[in-house]
Amino acid sequence: MEIEEVHEKTIKAGEVLKQVKEEVRPFVKPEVKLLEIAEFVENRIRELGAEPAFPCNISINSDAAHFTPKKNDDRVFKEGDVVKLDIGAHIDGIIADTAITIDLGDNTDLVMAAEKALEKAIEEVYAGADTSVIGEAIEKEIREMGFKPIINLTGHGLLPYITHAPPTIFNYKTNRGVKLEEGMVIAIEPFATTGAGKVGERGETEIYSLLTKRPVRMKQEREILKEIEPFKTLPFAKRWLKKAPNIIMNKLVREGILRDYPVLAEIERGLVSQAEHTLIVEDNGAKVVT
Ligand code: CO
Repeated sequence: MEIEEVHEKTIKAGEVLKQVKEEVRPFVKPEVKLLEIAEFVENRIRELGAEPAFPCNISINSDAAHFTPKKNDDRVFKEGDVVKLDIGAHIDGIIADTAITIDLGDNTDLVMAAEKALEKAIEEVYAGADTSVIGEAIEKEIREMGFKPIINLTGHGLLPYITHAPPTIFNYKTNRGVKLEEGMVIAIEPFATTGAGKVGERGETEIYSLLTKRPVRMKQEREILKEIEPFKTLPFAKRWLKKAPNIIMNKLVREGILRDYPVLAEIERGLVSQAEHTLIVEDNGAKVVT
């Protein structure tokens, strides 16, 4: 695919996400089911002419990433929740990725820290910019507001059917970064927390992606691999599949066929906010597409 076509599709996928973000925001309220929101987001992406690039991630309070509801999940939002929605859309594999935090309590500053850090980071983007300078801008803004950046969640490049491609864009000042190149599509996603600034797995997994295609003998395994073919290497949710027993999913992970994405939570159970935009690196700046 020519780079012009990649950019055109990135922009279109970004337009879809802009609209979905605005539509979903007022629906995230106490007593509303998480599943209802996830399905709304994913269906609207399809109705607007794209496909979900990954399951709608809904991370609440100290959860930071990779949570999506189960099939028939009846969990609801609660008063006071800090809700992160991380959503992605793709057109022919060309991805746009964005995230917002919706505050159902009184954590305005925490939410603002991630948003302002993202703004400052975007100001540092141009062809030739060093990713360490972007990380530094993020860290400075978040610390000045009295929070910590999460050091093991990062921004990233976007390539066809690959949600996390190089370059890695850290949320703090690193010794050595990499240079951004004109035309690169990147996502910057600062996370701010009241906790230690680090996430770990908390033992629930709903999201997977195909790692290596390999023949399998068990019928149930074959059926799952057949069903996930349309997603190619993009992440998918267990609830998207007709049948996905944990025992089979775990086996596919052990065999190196699937990759799992366990839910990541702040290690001190601090509250977490997130903001994310996808942008195209330009000669003198950046075009924000989400
Ligand atoms: Co992202």
